Amino acid sequence: MWKGRFQQDPARLSSQYGESISFDWRLHRYDIQGSIAHSKALLAAGILTPAEQAGIESTLGQIGVEIESGAFHFDPALEDIHMNIEAELTRRIGPTGAKLHTARSRNDQVALDLRLYLRAETDAIAALVRGLQKSLAALAADNIEVIIPGYTHLQRAQPVYFAHHLLAYVEMLDRDAGRLADVRKRIDVMPLGSGAIAGSTIVLDRALIARELGFGAITQNSMDAVSDRDFACELLAAIAIAGMHLSRLSEDLILWASAEFGFIVISDAYSTGSSLMPQKKNPDISELTRGKTGRLYGNLISLLTTLKGLPLAYNRDMQEDKEPIFDSVDTIKAALEVNAAMVSEIKVNAARAAEAGNDPMLLATDLADYLVRAGVPFRQAHETIGKLVAHCVSTGAAFTDLDLATLQSLSPAFGSDVFQVLDLRHALDARQAPGAPSLANVKAQLERWR
Ligand code: ARG
Repeated sequence: MWKGRFQQDPARLSSQYGESISFDWRLHRYDIQGSIAHSKALLAAGILTPAEQAGIESTLGQIGVEIESGAFHFDPALEDIHMNIEAELTRRIGPTGAKLHTARSRNDQVALDLRLYLRAETDAIAALVRGLQKSLAALAADNIEVIIPGYTHLQRAQPVYFAHHLLAYVEMLDRDAGRLADVRKRIDVMPLGSGAIAGSTIVLDRALIARELGFGAITQNSMDAVSDRDFACELLAAIAIAGMHLSRLSEDLILWASAEFGFIVISDAYSTGSSLMPQKKNPDISELTRGKTGRLYGNLISLLTTLKGLPLAYNRDMQEDKEPIFDSVDTIKAALEVNAAMVSEIKVNAARAAEAGNDPMLLATDLADYLVRAGVPFRQAHETIGKLVAHCVSTGAAFTDLDLATLQSLSPAFGSDVFQVLDLRHALDARQAPGAPSLANVKAQLERWR
């Protein structure tokens, strides 16, 4: 492509070091779409005749079909996807193909390809986020009566509906979808026409190209357009946050599937055994999801670090953006998909959940609230119930084993209606503020998500 200027061929080591076709071949569809749109702008500018443009468009279409079918041979000597496709076009149709790169550089071309690719992938990821939300909501709906302990510091805190716990993840995933929708606006800006750095003396109708490719806007500064990768950073950040959510879900599922908790059973189809211990059934999908989150964070930091020292405008360092981008996109898609499938096959062990959720200790705060309603200041009520807890811990009795006289020896504010407070369903139904887990609230939330 630059043979005019050079007397020597590139050294083998140099071209091996510089090639990107081994990974950026994945942009082929977008490179071809972009080139066809570009050829239409060249036609409108009078650089191509209608016949030439038609020849370019149909030949690019054929090349695209061959690439999709796996029949196309990529040549590493041609460095990247852009030159592989253009060289093949020119090999097939001669000088007309050589006109295609008019008023274009690989700098604006790669920016375009990346935006087209990420726009499509952002939509695909968002759809998978919705899929996992659906699986979680369905698991919640199927187990609407199940109560488990809610945990803080991984110690039993207060009872909650299992569905309430799952719907917390549905909320997180909704924010993930919101972040994807937001970054999509910044991806959806068309950079072609920026050339290498300073546009071109051959003025193309950039709005036409944007319309052809369905972009909502065009970039307004050629230097920014070829050096901007903010949109990719934002997407990798959104993916990293979604990964963090999946990792926390994984941790909960791993705990719940353990013999110690025993709240859920993960299907055999999404578990693995041990090569040594015949009894083992391991939650590997969740562990892998937790582990892969590290990669997602790494990819974000990798891209930010690649960009941080670059003077304007394009620098070859930017070729290093692709592998972390591809890896994050692939990883989050796979994680969302497999987790949605796994979650939809989870079975809940209602007996084990009831055993844990029925721990009367979890209603200690409700007892304090009872005293507050009888006029006791909360701090004092807290101390009284604290003593009651200490009494239960030392005697091995549960709150529900105590008689009214024992309770009244600690506070005269206790009346015979206190035992109602210790009824689990009653306790949950009392939690009626928006966002709190009364059964009516949880059902209303499920309905909202549906
Ligand atoms: N493969 C290159 C990349 O991914 C394409 C742009 C190359 N531009 C250049 N001036 N060498 O960034």
